[in-house]
Amino acid sequence: MKITKLEKYRPALHFSPEKNWMNDPNGLVFFKDEYHLFYQHNPHGSTWGPMHWGHAVSKDLISWDELEIALHPDDNGTIFSGSAVVDWNNTTGFFKEEPGLVAIFTHHSEGDHGKQAIQTQSLAYSLDNGRSWIKYDGNPVLAHPSKPDFRDPKVFWHKETKKWIMVLATGQTISLYSSANLKEWKFESEFGESCGSHEGVWECPDLFELSIEYSNDKKWVLIVSIGDNPNYDEGSRTQYFVGSFDGKKFTSEHEDIKWLDYGKDNYAGVSFSDIPEADGRRIYLGWMSNWRYANQVPTEGWRSQMTLPRELELHEKKGDYYLVQNLVRELDTYFDIKEERKEVIVTEEERTFFEVDDDYLEIILSLKNMNANKYGLTIEHTDSQYTTITIDTKENVLVLSREKSGVVDFSDNFPKLQRIHLKDSNQLQLRIIIDSSSLELFIDGGEQALTSLIFPDKVSKRIALFAEEGKVNLVYGKVSVPSKKG
Ligand code: FRU
Repeated sequence: MKITKLEKYRPALHFSPEKNWMNDPNGLVFFKDEYHLFYQHNPHGSTWGPMHWGHAVSKDLISWDELEIALHPDDNGTIFSGSAVVDWNNTTGFFKEEPGLVAIFTHHSEGDHGKQAIQTQSLAYSLDNGRSWIKYDGNPVLAHPSKPDFRDPKVFWHKETKKWIMVLATGQTISLYSSANLKEWKFESEFGESCGSHEGVWECPDLFELSIEYSNDKKWVLIVSIGDNPNYDEGSRTQYFVGSFDGKKFTSEHEDIKWLDYGKDNYAGVSFSDIPEADGRRIYLGWMSNWRYANQVPTEGWRSQMTLPRELELHEKKGDYYLVQNLVRELDTYFDIKEERKEVIVTEEERTFFEVDDDYLEIILSLKNMNANKYGLTIEHTDSQYTTITIDTKENVLVLSREKSGVVDFSDNFPKLQRIHLKDSNQLQLRIIIDSSSLELFIDGGEQALTSLIFPDKVSKRIALFAEEGKVNLVYGKVSVPSKKG
């Protein structure tokens, strides 16, 4: 279903469900020229409730067509998060004619009469490119005698051992299982007790190998989302580990905690399965919200949206390995350049403005500080609503303020500042995408990202560049607006 008329806050570029509630992306997979996006969905209302898997497909990762609900609750429970794979070699025996899709998901069953809820892993398969689904009659395929948090299976084919590997969130650890046929699973190892952040329950893991930029080496990356903890302002957020995987066990190579995103609104993200080797990208997207206030955001009849899809890369600096994320190139065709500027000196007295009044925007800025204490940009949505990005050269931080960005009063936490410690605050490349109710910021070619919801009455009216107590050079600036071609 295409959303043609834009309702208030309805994103133009980001996937949002036509109606009702959505959370985590599930079952991200590419098959027969289509990207599939399944998602946690409550079709009965616009707050979290009995989980189903909603479904949408896309040819280019940006324009999505919403399809029928893929998975409905059954006797084993509601349908929590999970993944999907193409069973190319019919390891399951489900595909007599040709390869097809298998979904591996968590069944969540509420414990009656004060008993513990039960989470188990189950399968469903599709013989018609995901248009309809058959639940496996041997469900569930994996249970645990005592762990109450036992969910969010992400499965991939491990070529070297010729086995399926499942990473599963098990309380405050990730458990790894292996299988030859997706039906019988063997426990292999458990990771994480003594490393990473344990501020909240571990959820939605993903494990994959990436080449290291400018090198022939590869390393494994384990992504782990951590649930909301009322003692921390950040709410729910996502960490990752870089290390090795030998087919049974993942080993992290660092002590520090690595965050995937410095904004509040990128959670439960995972990557697409079965991207063809000729393409070779590791494409990721997350749920653009935060459990702290997700159920309260001020949209009507629908709630939540996904981040834009991002290509993940692994870079190395002084022996440290870190993820770099950049928007997929498919997004480029959605923009036309509106204005470019070079070498403009911005001072306290003389700001620089880009006049823009469009459904969505891309801003690219290359900034070189001359002697300002602070500099940055204000996205003026209306006369009284604005979002500010300030670079403080003394503190070496970038601060995003959404305090005055529009509706913020649905949560005490929402207006709080979001910050990134910068490597060099005197020289910065910023890429910012602004849609009806979000801002995604990428610093220095995706080395750091900040994803943030905003709820202004209008996308923008004007962008203002400012400098405080000194000057800054806008070495290059470009503003792009919706493409006329589309
Ligand atoms: C993460 C999560 C998952 C779970 C799902 C339920 O946001 O809590 O762990 O499977 O949401 O909707």
